[in-house]
Amino acid sequence: MDGSTVEIDWESARAANLQNWDDRVPLHRDAYGLDAFDDPAHLSDVVAHDLKALTPYLPSRSLRGLDLCHLQCHIGTDTLSLARAGATVTGVDFSASALRVARELAESHGVHATWVETDVLDARAAVSGDFDVVYTSIGTITWLDDLDRWAAQVAQLLRPGGVFYIRDGHPALYALDENAENLTTRYPYFGDGRAQRWDDESTYVGAGTVAHPRTYEWPHPLSEIIGSLLGAGLRLRHFGEGKVLPWRFSPRMVEVPHGFAWPQSERDLIPCTYTILASRD
Ligand SMILES: C[S@@+](CC[C@H](N)C(=O)[O-])C[C@H]1O[C@@H](n2cnc3c(N)ncnc32)[C@H](O)[C@@H]1O
Repeated sequence: MDGSTVEIDWESARAANLQNWDDRVPLHRDAYGLDAFDDPAHLSDVVAHDLKALTPYLPSRSLRGLDLCHLQCHIGTDTLSLARAGATVTGVDFSASALRVARELAESHGVHATWVETDVLDARAAVSGDFDVVYTSIGTITWLDDLDRWAAQVAQLLRPGGVFYIRDGHPALYALDENAENLTTRYPYFGDGRAQRWDDESTYVGAGTVAHPRTYEWPHPLSEIIGSLLGAGLRLRHFGEGKVLPWRFSPRMVEVPHGFAWPQSERDLIPCTYTILASRD
């Protein structure tokens, strides 16, 4: 661990992150509970939650028949779930091994999907066509240095009338010391363009370890996240905050329905997630 703020160029940071994400793939394939998808009605918990927030903003109140691009799709469990909810899906990730597992998972359940290996910051050029929905969730934009460039990809992937959805860890949560005995700030809420460096052999699910423990992430305050989307020409339709995370951010978090939360006495003190819906008019 650590989280020191360091000077590093994007290409070197990205290369380290890619090695780390490639290492996580076999661990996540074994720990994500893929067997649950043998039930054709099964959806990931994340997508089951997100559909309730997303569908009211869709013209037909459903994903059925819509083209959806899933950015940072990882091993495709959420992508498969979005396909099961009726969308024609394109999954985008920079990890070829993650996309291999995603493809196998989808094919083994008879779901046709398009998989595109690209940096999300180059997604517009790499992905064919445009989309009714661009979706990304849980563990996404902290891996990116340049949110203006990210938001431009999102806006250019959307058709006029299309909707963008993100739910992710709240930047105020990420400013906390995950190992402290109470809610204590430790890391910057406001980024200054520099990365935070982490060394962690473990991952957020399962007990395995990775060969490449070093990663780099970038803090992005809410003003930067929302500002980047507005700057790309999107219209903000909804902003929400939540108290339950799909992963255990801190050993002090307790298990609750659909994830993890701070102990009850602290639950109202700080948000754990944010949700943004924005549209291209
Ligand atoms: C935490 S996972 C997203 C997980 C997803 N919510 C899930 O549980 O399946 C983050 C994903 O972002 C991908 N990623 C990280 N940096 C990226 C980049 N610059 N371009 C494209 N994908 C990236 C990683 O390969 C990984 O699959």
